[in-house]
Amino acid sequence: MTRNPTDDSAAQVSREQALTDEVVARFAASPDERLRVITQSLTRHLHAFVRDVRLTTEEWDAAIDFLTRVGHITDDKRQEFILLSDVLGVSMMTVGVNSPLQADATESTVFGPFFVDGSPAARNGDDIGASVAGMPCFVKGTVTDTSGAPIAGARIEVWAADEAGFYDVQYDGDELAGRAHLHSDDTGAYWFWTKQPSAYPIPHDGPVGDLLTATGRHPWRPAHIHFMVQNPGFSTLITHIFVAGDQWLEDDAVFGVKESLIVDFVQHDAGTPAPDGRNIGGGPWSEAVFNIVLAAQ
Ligand code: BEZ
Ligand code: FE
Repeated sequence: MTRNPTDDSAAQVSREQALTDEVVARFAASPDERLRVITQSLTRHLHAFVRDVRLTTEEWDAAIDFLTRVGHITDDKRQEFILLSDVLGVSMMTVGVNSPLQADATESTVFGPFFVDGSPAARNGDDIGASVAGMPCFVKGTVTDTSGAPIAGARIEVWAADEAGFYDVQYDGDELAGRAHLHSDDTGAYWFWTKQPSAYPIPHDGPVGDLLTATGRHPWRPAHIHFMVQNPGFSTLITHIFVAGDQWLEDDAVFGVKESLIVDFVQHDAGTPAPDGRNIGGGPWSEAVFNIVLAAQ
């Protein structure tokens, strides 16, 4: 007998609930307690979702096809699953539920899909954007704990897109550019040159882009520089600094903006000497200060 998908009779409700209960029970004996909690909760939420929207079989087919395309386009350079998690706000929700409790620590945001293990080592004052197009940008700050004590030797990973909005890994070839790791000095200070970041669209030529288009959403992220800061005894900080005044700050495609991470990138006229005496070619340049506070573990 074919049933009406909107059938909300007591018999239908009880049949649907019985299936949920049966699947939940099937996970009850999981030897891994955390896996039991996750699989049972996932089952309850997925079933509730299917019942809530009265998912049709055609829609279920489309969802399977969509996820298959997400899998097929994913490789060691393109991570469409992270992108999907990002545009659904799941990445930011995971960041939120895992945020350190210390209120004074620097806030986290999305990791994004463009981090690369094994970035070049840089020293304070180096130009990590030497082969990247754009206006020179001087970034400096300190790394401290929540009491203000300097943290020397913290490892600071930095990565950013070029003027055209592309990361090195989005180009053919294996050249790394616009990314490096350096360490805070004995006073907790760090400083480096890069290029002024610009707003860019997240990759939208795949299934996640199709989802954005179909739902009337745009793919733009406000201009930012990524940071990952690590020191033994402290929670790893994964974050960005965003450029104050960017038009997409209110409407980031991946919901990553936090007020405390918006920084003034002060522009200096052509001919203004660089703070460290570096020859930057006589053109204009910008400067951003980002003081990083790590939360103790
Ligand atoms: C990024 O900022 O690199 C990024 C974050 C989420 C999705 C795509 C890109
Ligand atoms: Fe980015």
